[in-house]
Amino acid sequence: MSRELNIAVVGATGAVGREFLGILDDHSLPISNLKLLASRRSVGTKLSVRGQDIEVEEAKPNSFNNVDFAFISANSSISRQLGPEAVKCGAVVIDDSSAFRMQTNVPLVVPEVNGSDVEWHQGIISIPNCSTTPLVMAIHPLVQSNVVKRVIVNTYQSVSGAGGAAINELREQSIALINNKEYPPEALSQQIAFNLFPQIGNFLPSGYTDEEEKMINETRKILHQESLGVSATCVRVPVYVCHSESVHLEFEKPIDLNEARDLLSQMPGVVVCDADDPENYPMPGELAGTNDVYIGRIRQDRALPNGIAMWLVSDNLRKGAALNAIQIAEEVINRNSLAVKAA
Ligand SMILES: NC(=O)c1ccc[n+]([C@@H]2O[C@H](COP(=O)([O-])OP(=O)(O)OC[C@H]3O[C@@H](n4cnc5c(N)ncnc54)[C@H](OP(=O)(O)O)[C@@H]3O)[C@@H](O)[C@H]2O)c1
Repeated sequence: MSRELNIAVVGATGAVGREFLGILDDHSLPISNLKLLASRRSVGTKLSVRGQDIEVEEAKPNSFNNVDFAFISANSSISRQLGPEAVKCGAVVIDDSSAFRMQTNVPLVVPEVNGSDVEWHQGIISIPNCSTTPLVMAIHPLVQSNVVKRVIVNTYQSVSGAGGAAINELREQSIALINNKEYPPEALSQQIAFNLFPQIGNFLPSGYTDEEEKMINETRKILHQESLGVSATCVRVPVYVCHSESVHLEFEKPIDLNEARDLLSQMPGVVVCDADDPENYPMPGELAGTNDVYIGRIRQDRALPNGIAMWLVSDNLRKGAALNAIQIAEEVINRNSLAVKAA
């Protein structure tokens, strides 16, 4: 693509938005005009992108004239309100929220896994939940040689997955508790300092939380396996950035560990850490700011027939959100799918 792009970023002041702008600093996406949008509270705030200070404007339905890509990273209700308006203006919307993910006319995309799905977009493309993305990145290469029957995943999700306010809460609450002061939870539902809790989102009648239900449904949609058995337990842990996951996969046929390692190593965006040394497992404290999905502890599952178990870590703000969004835009450009198709 030779043409330079007009881009709008809704939620530019948030945890994902700021990461997005940081990635743009080092990225070759050709941009002629960059509009930074947020709530009224942030109007006038200046953010630096590619060496230029840009003033944040209030996001409004008419903010999207002549915009090619609108990246929306605010919350579901803002996405529902502004996404269709941006599409009406001719923009392709790449949306971080859960607002449209399960709609049948909205592709849900991790480019390395189902990049071709961008071709049937009708104006909106969703990115998955930040814990679904690394999971499908780990499953996808393995299903090239075997059929996956069952996925059991337990997550250890960092506070940045709940936005910028939760990052502050972990820091401030930790300081308060060390000093024997009280700090009741505000951004998160429970105390996170020196604690963890198995609830991300609200509980559903099934007994799962909506974060867990998202992982189940989104994994099936991205892998095009509507009846895949998936069970998830999502846990918030006192880590700033990077989600970790303990993953157990059952396949139709026996799976050889060396073959699994080879397939995972060949997957773009995946790094296998434990090829030579099982102690080389990935940890969130070391991987914030990286782009790949890091996998270790690969071993035979002792309980599942034809099963393997593994441990993965991925930066939720980057591959889990901002980087994946930029990669989707590149996929749209490379597949000549920028023109919005009639709904
Ligand atoms: N954090 C992650 O790891 C992650 C991963 C995948 C997807 N997501 C999704 O990405 C979105 C943003 O998450 P985040 O973690 O960046 O949240 P955040 O840190 O809380 O940031 C929220 C952003 O939304 C803006 N906003 C709030 N109300 C608005 C309004 N009325 N109009 C326009 N903008 C408004 C905020 O602007 P002000 O600063 O002006 O309030 C801020 O820029 C959410 O939908 C989330 O589910 C997050």
